[in-house]
Amino acid sequence: METKLWNINNNTLHNEKAIAEAAQFLLNGETIAFPTETVYGLGADATNEAAVSKIFTAKGRPQDNPLIAHVATKEQLAGLVKSMPAYVDTLIDRFTPGPLTFILPHNGRCAENVTAGLSTIALRIPDHPAAQQLLKTCDVPLAAPSANASGKPSPTAADHVWADLNGKIAGILDGGSTGVGLESTVLDCTGEIPVILRPGGVTKEQLKKITGKVLLDPGLNNNEEKPKSPGMKYKHYAPEVELWLVDGTPNQIQELINKEQNKSKKVGVMARTPVVNQLHADQIYDLGTQPEEIAASLYEALRTFKQGDVDLIACETFPEKGIGQATMNRLKKAATRSLGMRS
Ligand code: TXA
Ligand code: MG
Repeated sequence: METKLWNINNNTLHNEKAIAEAAQFLLNGETIAFPTETVYGLGADATNEAAVSKIFTAKGRPQDNPLIAHVATKEQLAGLVKSMPAYVDTLIDRFTPGPLTFILPHNGRCAENVTAGLSTIALRIPDHPAAQQLLKTCDVPLAAPSANASGKPSPTAADHVWADLNGKIAGILDGGSTGVGLESTVLDCTGEIPVILRPGGVTKEQLKKITGKVLLDPGLNNNEEKPKSPGMKYKHYAPEVELWLVDGTPNQIQELINKEQNKSKKVGVMARTPVVNQLHADQIYDLGTQPEEIAASLYEALRTFKQGDVDLIACETFPEKGIGQATMNRLKKAATRSLGMRS
């Protein structure tokens, strides 16, 4: 299949035409990748079972991993659920459009393969002008997982989508780099107290200010417990080479690099600017300084290191608060080894 590429970075009139064309593909049952404020999504008409199944095929995604249905407005969201607790109403007003996904009991309007047969559905109102315009033009909910090949880091630029899915999808709307860089927070809202199933763009601290109590799915940090979100059990975000997560001082990280280089290994490093400035390695990716910068550059960094250039990547650890909780969640899932060096 030929994959169309529309650049929607500059000219408004051209953008409207591109989005109208992309919407037509979607209404014809095809899949289109589009930018959101978190990562690129691979969209299909969520009410069309055959269209939705094309998402699973293109990504190589396991069938038992349900998708997020994206809508433009609160009213459209309410039209897809059986009921919702009062706190969801408040959360929608406070955080959407934005990187927060609500798990709620559905009313059967979306195709069954969107929810993998579950009684609940994941719903999100994305905060990106192209995503909003696309949803309004289609006027159907769009099922959209991250637009990467299953197992790979999520795409934060159209190039990443192209690398993974060229020839397998109908088109890509290229709106430049995404802002948040990590996926939305998945929040189970089926009970009295909301439960974070996947940390993401809206932090636990932010949610707590509104709802008072917020729980974290015990399956997230405990290997014994099964995660409540089907997707969290799969290996994810894997770079081409081994990733070692190193909790250590810059000196300790440098010693590790030297030791591996002495074994003829080529070593890549991912770290914050002040740490990068103290290290010598075969390839270095500077993640920036602020927690938001680190989150935004994480997936690009994981895709930068190529087999042949390095044999392994050493990445430092980050404080697990604010957006750092989501960053560390993704890094732990991507890592092949975790090394605690501080004593
Ligand atoms: O930021 C995002 O959320 C991006 C953009 C494109 O919107 N989308 C995204 O989708 O990350 P995906 O499919 O890569 O991740 C969706 C997560 C998966 O872990 C899936 O298992 C979980 O949401 N999920 C979907 N429906 C669910 C449900 N009914 N109950 C529990 N977890 C669910
Ligand atoms: Mg994904």
